Amino acid sequence: MQTAKLDAPDLVDAEAWTWPLSGAEFADGHWTKVPFFEPGAPARLAPILKIFDRWTADEILTAHDGKAIVSFPTPDGDLMTAVVPPLQALKFYGGGMTACATNHARVRDLARDVMTALGAHPARVESNIYLSSRGCRTPLHFDCSESVVLQVQGRKTWRVAPNESIAAPVRNSGITGDIPFEVRRDLRAPLPRDVPASAITYELEPGGILYVPRGFWHATESDGDSVSLHFHYQTLTWLDVILPAIRARLECDPKWREAARAVGPRTHGASTLNGEVATLLANLSKAAREMPAEDAFEFPGDSPLAPTRYRRNPMAALWANGASEDDGVAACSVQARSSFLDFTAHLELDAPSRALAYWMASRDVCETVAASDVARQFGVSEGDARDVLEVLAAARLVRAART
Ligand SMILES: [Fe+2]
Repeated sequence: MQTAKLDAPDLVDAEAWTWPLSGAEFADGHWTKVPFFEPGAPARLAPILKIFDRWTADEILTAHDGKAIVSFPTPDGDLMTAVVPPLQALKFYGGGMTACATNHARVRDLARDVMTALGAHPARVESNIYLSSRGCRTPLHFDCSESVVLQVQGRKTWRVAPNESIAAPVRNSGITGDIPFEVRRDLRAPLPRDVPASAITYELEPGGILYVPRGFWHATESDGDSVSLHFHYQTLTWLDVILPAIRARLECDPKWREAARAVGPRTHGASTLNGEVATLLANLSKAAREMPAEDAFEFPGDSPLAPTRYRRNPMAALWANGASEDDGVAACSVQARSSFLDFTAHLELDAPSRALAYWMASRDVCETVAASDVARQFGVSEGDARDVLEVLAAARLVRAART
């Protein structure tokens, strides 16, 4: 059995997946907005189809070292799912149920590359290989992720409709059974009882590609033995981008890290509590007002040229690796986190540069420091101070300030 990863360069060309649209046309017209369907088998995807042509359900599941999920509809139209070992999934599949191999090693890299090229953040990409036989159905539901499907074997019919009941959902849901709390909370119209009349039917055959944006209703039925690759992107929302940045900024303030002792079953004196909460909320509102956008999102290549002021990145930490010589060069690391990255830089810093780095790391997150002041503080030339600050900026410990 072939076990090589699908990493040929032509397979990760985004335009092979959005053909006949260019990547830019797909991004502008479809991504996170409306479905995209291409029924043909563009020549550019032929290498993938050729590989999966030869891959049986047996091989897919026996070669899988991850999670497998089997699903089957209940008599009342709901979908039951169970996580089982891959070999057990094969038995369920043989018994006519849908089996799904999650994050299969052979498609993991392909999913990440394709979805990143389409606009996804790589850390939020997952993949599924769905195996089903004639008559297998997935009842009407929506997902809180963007999904790109490539049919590789057999035929499957999809019905896809816009969602008038909920906008930008943060949980997956069907129309019966356990409706998640967040879905009930955010409903703006009752859930439909069946596939909406506005649904469009897509027949997927090998080479067919369907993009289903987050929230769109969809239901499927296999018209024969079917194998499809599903790439999912857990849509990054403004909540995901901004809240961690605000939290990191507040966490730098010991007041916010204090125990909320007044909150609990023994709470007395609501007026005291109100005062404390009001102060914190005023502080939160000030922090939010003053937070530069780049704390939430680093704009690539948008850093000011020849900056004169710097400030500590509230989402970064500096530490020494092991014991360091007081005077010699010592290894330090900077770890920076945001919704987009978990980045660690390893630095070799001499004693004066190290002192400067620790001083910058101890600044208040709201403070901006001029390179000239840093130079004076450490008794070095402004050019030397800037050189160190630039190294620290590249390591993301500090950021060039815009003002
Ligand atoms: Fe789905």
